[in-house]
Amino acid sequence: GETVDVSLNINGADHSFTLDARTTLLDLLRERMDLTGTKVGCNHGQCGACTILLDGTRINSCLMLAAAADGKAITTIEGLGRPDELHPMQAAFIQHDGFQCGYCTPGQILSAVGCVTEGHAGSRPEIREYMSGNLCRCGAYKGITEAVAEARD
Ligand code: FES
Repeated sequence: GETVDVSLNINGADHSFTLDARTTLLDLLRERMDLTGTKVGCNHGQCGACTILLDGTRINSCLMLAAAADGKAITTIEGLGRPDELHPMQAAFIQHDGFQCGYCTPGQILSAVGCVTEGHAGSRPEIREYMSGNLCRCGAYKGITEAVAEARD
């Protein structure tokens, strides 16, 4: 098929790719970059497992073509915090039991960071509303909401 050239900053480093034009951002991250912290759930925008930050705003990476992100900056769970130090949101998830099996957790945490930085963490109902696109089969929603509220303060 048709190929495209795409340049992205991923977790602070610049990368250039030649890709099939239909490659999603999710597939690029997992298959070309080995950044497998970004999870595949439904693969059609329903579960939030694939959530990343694009120029600081959370998106579902399964719904976006890599070519549409050309020139932008991406943060995945691997790029949050520092090698020897958890990001405050990661620490808050541990403190408040914001996960059980952990599969949805990278997406939950990236969404949670977006929730705070985009100014949607004013109250617990507001947090729940913003986070409603991130499903958790284990039902860790109470801990997730508490973690976001803690990290906000
Ligand atoms: Fe992207 Fe479910 S895998 S929303």
